[in-house]
Amino acid sequence: MDEKIRELEERRAKIREGGGPKRVAAQHEKGKMTARERIESLLDPGSFIEIDTFVEHRAVELGMDEVKAPGEGVVIGHGCVDGRLVFVFAQDFTVIGGSLGEMHAMKICKAMDMAMKAGCPVIGINDSGGARIQEGVDALSGYGDIFFRNTRASGVIPQISVIMGPCAGGAVYSPALTDFTVMVDKTANMFITGPQVIKAVTGEDVSAEELGGATIHSTTSGVASLMFSDEQSTIAGIKKLLSYLPQNNIEDPRVMPTGDDPRRADPGIRELIPDSPNKPYDIRDVIGRVFDAAAPGGVGDYFEIQPMYAQNIVTCFARLDGRTVGIVANQPKVMAGVLDINASDKAARFIRFCDAFNIPLVTFADTSGYLPGVGQEHGGVIRHGAKLLYAYSEATVPKLTVIARKDYGGAYIAMCSRHLGADQVFAWPCAEIAVMGPEGAANIIFKREIEEAADPAAARKEKIAEYKKSFANPYKAAMRGYVDDVIDPAQTRPRLIAALTMLLGKRESLPPKKHGNIPV
Ligand code: HXC
Repeated sequence: MDEKIRELEERRAKIREGGGPKRVAAQHEKGKMTARERIESLLDPGSFIEIDTFVEHRAVELGMDEVKAPGEGVVIGHGCVDGRLVFVFAQDFTVIGGSLGEMHAMKICKAMDMAMKAGCPVIGINDSGGARIQEGVDALSGYGDIFFRNTRASGVIPQISVIMGPCAGGAVYSPALTDFTVMVDKTANMFITGPQVIKAVTGEDVSAEELGGATIHSTTSGVASLMFSDEQSTIAGIKKLLSYLPQNNIEDPRVMPTGDDPRRADPGIRELIPDSPNKPYDIRDVIGRVFDAAAPGGVGDYFEIQPMYAQNIVTCFARLDGRTVGIVANQPKVMAGVLDINASDKAARFIRFCDAFNIPLVTFADTSGYLPGVGQEHGGVIRHGAKLLYAYSEATVPKLTVIARKDYGGAYIAMCSRHLGADQVFAWPCAEIAVMGPEGAANIIFKREIEEAADPAAARKEKIAEYKKSFANPYKAAMRGYVDDVIDPAQTRPRLIAALTMLLGKRESLPPKKHGNIPV
């Protein structure tokens, strides 16, 4: 037995060396950790249990019969993050460039299948040259098997993709099918076809970083949910993200009391809102005051998703009396908080994630409406904007809405109005709810009176004031019961917490159907 144990240890130690000291050193020189180092930093100390260590490829063509691939270029297993179970797989770039062959894919699929059985999140760390060229269709089938599982697991367990190196070709579609794609600045890139192929096909000259680096995917394409400056901060970010999530779709997120008083009123919120409805302010200042502070007396703790993409809408996780909520808020500081194609896509996807994972939604509305323009219309703002209506209407989690200021037209309906199933709608006294803003409305409905007046400019001013008095307020909507209460902004936190507590037992289900058909 002693000899057999020695052999076991030797075999295991050899595999743990990955591609060997030279390749490990090259990995470190790039500012990258090895697959095992990444897993060790992510999981609670001593909690990682590796499986499938001894799996080997069975390729023989193009010299593969001579190639040893320790661990098949991917490390899989389970462990805990803050005491909660997760499954992980981490591709090992030091072994054949982390390329994905048949058995490498089999390991990843096993990690996903086990995560589904155990009902826990799966975190995939990508660092790979993509499909292992020598394995041909066996490599492609491996990707297909992963995509299939990503899709089947969607809405059942949280799936987080972490990009810590190259992620090229069809490989990018696994992250795209998961809930969150987290990229490391400068060392991660994602593209369907790389710079060389682009040069050959279209003649365009572009670097890998410009084409598919973390910055471009965080600001422009919307592919990345989050980016961080290095691997350690990326891992810290993933842990924070996980803290807001439930283990699976039949559990609620963990309640994490912060000590922040649920009855805490904050008169300072009144000062944040400018008198003029056209003046910008940062909605994140409001969020920071309403939601639980990380520590008593501290500032509100919230975690933004896609913070640099479609900044005219803010999507973030935060806590109310210790319970996770998902916040969707127009951002008056950016493009006056208008809804456009990208904002609709960003918010709709976030809402659907929250709904799938039992995370109540809190919406802050302050928007002049959908963005007018030829570019928007031709880009399909009709179908993209419809996603927001669809996502809110479909969501059955508790839905709370605060109408902060302007809330006009279709955007009033879209920003989780009573009509889309909001459970409680509050409006601040400065809210303006109408078909359109006073200037536009006066020009249309008082056109003749203004034109025929001796002093058209004065008449216009008068008509705008008349319209403002009767429509630019929350009371018309409150008279119909579309707004449940008009509240002092200072009371926003206690009122939201009271509403959320009241709705803890909310039961609502959709009519039986195979699935809906969201406009895509
Ligand atoms: C086999 C691969 C490989 C691959 C890298 N390697 N990619 N082996 N199949 N796809 C090997 C290299 O031969 C090398 O082996 C080692 O990994 C490290 O790679 P280097 O090129 O030396 O590293 P680096 O210079 O850092 O460049 C990394 C890279 C580059 C940018 C990822 O290797 C690259 O461009 N690879 C190909 C990317 C690609 O086009 N993949 C196919 C995508 S299509 P040695 O032994 O020399 O160390 C795809 C289809 C999926 O994935 C479809 C699903 C639907």
